[in-house]
Amino acid sequence: MELVRATEAAAIRAVPWIGRGDKNGADKAAVDAMRKFLGTVNFAGVVVIGEGEKDQAPMLFNGEVVGNGNGPECDIAVDPIDGTSLTAAGRQNALSMIAVSDRGTMLDASSVFYMDKLVTGPEGIGVVDIRKPIGENIRALAAAKGKPVEEMSIAVLDRPRHEQLIADIRAAGAGTRLLLDGDVAGGINAARYGTRIDMCVGTGGSPEGVATACAIKALGGLIQGVLRPKTDEERQRGLDAGLKFDHVYEADELVRGDNTFFVATGVTDGGLVEGVRRKGPIIRTESIVLRSHSGTVRRVVAEHLAEKWLGEDAD
Ligand code: FBP
Repeated sequence: MELVRATEAAAIRAVPWIGRGDKNGADKAAVDAMRKFLGTVNFAGVVVIGEGEKDQAPMLFNGEVVGNGNGPECDIAVDPIDGTSLTAAGRQNALSMIAVSDRGTMLDASSVFYMDKLVTGPEGIGVVDIRKPIGENIRALAAAKGKPVEEMSIAVLDRPRHEQLIADIRAAGAGTRLLLDGDVAGGINAARYGTRIDMCVGTGGSPEGVATACAIKALGGLIQGVLRPKTDEERQRGLDAGLKFDHVYEADELVRGDNTFFVATGVTDGGLVEGVRRKGPIIRTESIVLRSHSGTVRRVVAEHLAEKWLGEDAD
């Protein structure tokens, strides 16, 4: 629960950057705030998925040690803003997230940026398979969920690379929910009960895939991923790092063990969480906290005194 303070802080600090056309400015504000708060949390965390290599990322770089060093030893994946472009444009669905698992359990997929992913709720387990054609998977999941294919909604990042995938989904009779950005939220919404999304598919960031796996473990859903290097150099870096290609990473390989936490706070309004709101002297944040051990999904609404957030050093 302490972790949520770090995503709340990142989301609040990102607000002045919403719609300002400066995604790096937004990201930096969120990174600074998240790092500061992580320093107060009772754990000894190592950033496995962060802002990148140390030289390019002065803070929350891969390998950085975070936390006050007093609690459990953990791996940590951070994305101070998933949806930096959304934030800069003033669009919906940007959020701040952190995923945590026991030390040494998170796959370090940072050397290969893209991953094909398939995410569903529990009904998809043993029913869908990323190696099968999308139409077959949609029909199988629809049957497992007891709903007509025509009522199935499939989330996909709106990218030229997904043109054929989108056509195939529609040809199968299902509808698409095209995401401008943010396939972590797309995946979580596919795995949660009672949302309008049944499945999230397509190629997105592999770091986001590992973070999504932490959330999916709490929701009891299915995630499969296949790494997709874009160049021979990237493939070689992946091989050197011990990564496997032409291999389906299941949830238990993306994150080993059953002790994961996932927290996300809305920056702008989205289907998973509402964005930061200012009401007079109060700043309101909404977060979701998932814990695999208990399978609990918590929604945390916090009211922060705006005056405490004035100035750079305030918290
Ligand atoms: P960032 O905001 O952290 O850059 O990520 C946004 C995102 O949409 C992810 O959710 C997704 O996995 C990835 O980018 C997709 O990459 P690309 O924009 O290159 O298709």
